[in-house]
Amino acid sequence: MPHESPDIWAMADLATPFAIRTAATLRVPDVVKDGPIPLVEIAHRCKAEADPLGRVLRFLVHRGVFTEPEMDVFGPNDASNALCSDVPDGPQPWLDLDGAVGRADLAFVELIEQVRGHHPAYPAAFGRSFWEDLAHNPQLSDSFDSLMETKSYGLAPLIAAAHDWSAYSLIADVGGGKGVLLAEILGAHPQLRGILVDLLGPARNAAEYLREQGVQERAEVVTASFFDPLPIHADAAIVCDVLGDWDDQDATRILGHCAQAVAPDGRVLIIELLPDTSRMTLFTEMDLRIMIYVGGRMRDLDRTQRIAAAAGLTVEDFTPLDNGYAIIECRPER
Ligand SMILES: C[S@@+](CC[C@H](N)C(=O)[O-])C[C@H]1O[C@@H](n2cnc3c(N)ncnc32)[C@H](O)[C@@H]1O
Repeated sequence: MPHESPDIWAMADLATPFAIRTAATLRVPDVVKDGPIPLVEIAHRCKAEADPLGRVLRFLVHRGVFTEPEMDVFGPNDASNALCSDVPDGPQPWLDLDGAVGRADLAFVELIEQVRGHHPAYPAAFGRSFWEDLAHNPQLSDSFDSLMETKSYGLAPLIAAAHDWSAYSLIADVGGGKGVLLAEILGAHPQLRGILVDLLGPARNAAEYLREQGVQERAEVVTASFFDPLPIHADAAIVCDVLGDWDDQDATRILGHCAQAVAPDGRVLIIELLPDTSRMTLFTEMDLRIMIYVGGRMRDLDRTQRIAAAAGLTVEDFTPLDNGYAIIECRPER
């Protein structure tokens, strides 16, 4: 069958994504959700300048986002409503240029220099690494934790159901963020106790979240870096969506510290999105994004097995989940 070539001009356009992200960041979709409003009023409510905002909105009207029922009056349509900030699992928080990921996307201007081998993109765009940026900016850090929380709501129940947790009495979620996964597993398995390990900001939020979820009696939060030996011992250590953020050397160090933190017959459970033929668009996009944001990489099972082996771990089992993620069960070689 002849392959239809993609519309390169449409794919390479930068005006549309920037216009959409500007409108989403200013919350224009929220403001016009209930019906058309004069531009001056929209600009006032969005704390924006009316003239440039009107030009952005008119541009978007001609691309199918928003309506302009009369001159300088803008209203909603299905596309703009999809950008409202209260849409469950909606795109707004990911596109928000003041949020951690929307801002990180701006580092794509440095992609060419990273590919030329001149410098990594994010520090060139923002003057320090992604993680340093989060550490210095509570608003960015909170927005990142809340994006990870949203992502985890879909993933955590799959993980809690797919693995035999009855084999353990104490588990640790290393780089566990706000604790969505740990709370889900502890909620589903009342015999279990858990430790969440993360940096100061996420650890602080996790203590509150685990309390809200009613599992605080069986959960401990430990503030530590996974680049240092972990000050914990557990039957199993989970590393979910963490290794992709790091190059092979750093990922091996993290796994090595997890291996040392589990019992000799314990397990390290690596949970990552793996490539499969039906999801290569998503997988390669994630690979590019984490290369730009943090210098990390997505890995297939072979490459994950190699870094696990370098960290003293043998892959014992592999459980694919419905959404393309997999639980890769490793045992320490000692
Ligand atoms: C992509 S998020 C994944 C969070 C969580 N595991 C999940 O699946 O939603 C990576 C996590 O690693 C944490 N992290 C980054 N550097 C760390 C370090 N040096 N030590 C411990 N945690 C770290 C971040 O704070 C963040 O919570």
